[in-house]
Amino acid sequence: MSRLVDNKRPRNATKSAGIRKGRFAGGMDASFARFNASISFDKRLYKEDVLGSIAHVRMLGRRKIIPSKDARAIEKGLKEVLADIEQGRFEFREDLEDVHINIEEALRVKIGDAAGKLHTARSRNDQVALDLRMYVKEQTRQVMAALMELMSAVTDTARRNTRVIMPGYTHLQRAQPVRLSHHLMAYFHMFRRDWERFRDAWPRVNEMPLGSAALAGTTFGVDRESVAADLGFETVSENSMDAVSDRDFVVEFISNSAMVMMHLSRLAEELVLWSSQEFGFCTLPDAFCSGSSIMPQKKNPDACELIRGKTGRVYGDLVTLLTMLKGLPLAYNKDLQEDKEPLFDCVDTVKACIAVMAAMVPEIEFHADRMLEAASDPGLAATDLADRLARQGVPFREAHELVGSLVRESGVSGANSGIPSPEEMVEARRHPGGTSLANVRKQIEQAQEFLAHSAAGLPGKRSR
Ligand code: ARG
Repeated sequence: MSRLVDNKRPRNATKSAGIRKGRFAGGMDASFARFNASISFDKRLYKEDVLGSIAHVRMLGRRKIIPSKDARAIEKGLKEVLADIEQGRFEFREDLEDVHINIEEALRVKIGDAAGKLHTARSRNDQVALDLRMYVKEQTRQVMAALMELMSAVTDTARRNTRVIMPGYTHLQRAQPVRLSHHLMAYFHMFRRDWERFRDAWPRVNEMPLGSAALAGTTFGVDRESVAADLGFETVSENSMDAVSDRDFVVEFISNSAMVMMHLSRLAEELVLWSSQEFGFCTLPDAFCSGSSIMPQKKNPDACELIRGKTGRVYGDLVTLLTMLKGLPLAYNKDLQEDKEPLFDCVDTVKACIAVMAAMVPEIEFHADRMLEAASDPGLAATDLADRLARQGVPFREAHELVGSLVRESGVSGANSGIPSPEEMVEARRHPGGTSLANVRKQIEQAQEFLAHSAAGLPGKRSR
């Protein structure tokens, strides 16, 4: 019988290639070659790598560090390599270790030995730092744009449900009536702060590290500012050792994403609860639910649960980065290669979760009658009854005790003294930040203004 799984072992030999030619007697052990190679994941940085190299080589040419005809040939070759990759004509090779060597080797195949001049005044250490910063900048833009979509979806849903009244909870016990729109707008504010955190991190990722070379800088007369300008960076890094070993901007990106995930997860959790038979506050759209393979009646809130579940991955990505960095002496250490997989995982996860939530929220069907019924529980009026007594001069503590014992003995309905309606209670909270209709409308207006105003303020190529 043939095996379902074969147990062949790989052979142990690789040829000496690329950057090993001078210093090393032989090739890597096959197990180490695979272990050492990052191409399977860092190929994602191909575009940043090529564009960074083009800016670098233009500068080398301008500064006459290499002949300008070589610089032109290299730029032309790099553009062809980029086109090859983008049109699927490029084969990334594991024996060439990482994206940087793969692209340099492809350039050599295209233009010959002049390709070897590209790496003048540069190291993979500042090269990878540059690639990563360019990548994080682009992803910051994308996540900020996605957060805008999500905030619009939340605000719009709140606007369409301004009048719906539901119980607000503390300790997951019915507490006081609130407007559904007020509850939803709380999430707008979480996502707004998240958006602001990405914006606030922008100037720190916007520093151009190239020119730091391996760690100490370079003996060539480089013009770092022009490279920075070419690549849309605001400033150049001020310390070469910091520049090649700094991954704070990756930590910040993941940390900001972890906060987004935490907020998404709280919303997801509420939707799981609200859509349960026990609550019955809403019906989630079929398009975002799945069935059970055994129980025909089931409609499960999988989208929400996956968002809640994936939050742990992003927290894991953050802890991975922080832990990887904590013991590193300056400057570059190969440990830093381990920054990419958690970053990429974080990017994919946070973008997918934001997109799913933004698409799902506007399609949720809220059950206003059921929510109002739950909000009409007389217990929810207890605070307002105590407030009423306090307004008549009873010290609030005493009023609290009075209403409390009433509830203990016979429930609030026993008060029999004109219990305010949920509508009256939410409308009584008229101050800024309260749940009255006028206030919620004002919040929504301000949110719409933020959305219109800040959309134009997305970090551009050059601005902060
Ligand atoms: N693949 C490496 C990384 O991702 C590139 C930098 C390699 N530098 C070095 N000195 N080995 O970190």
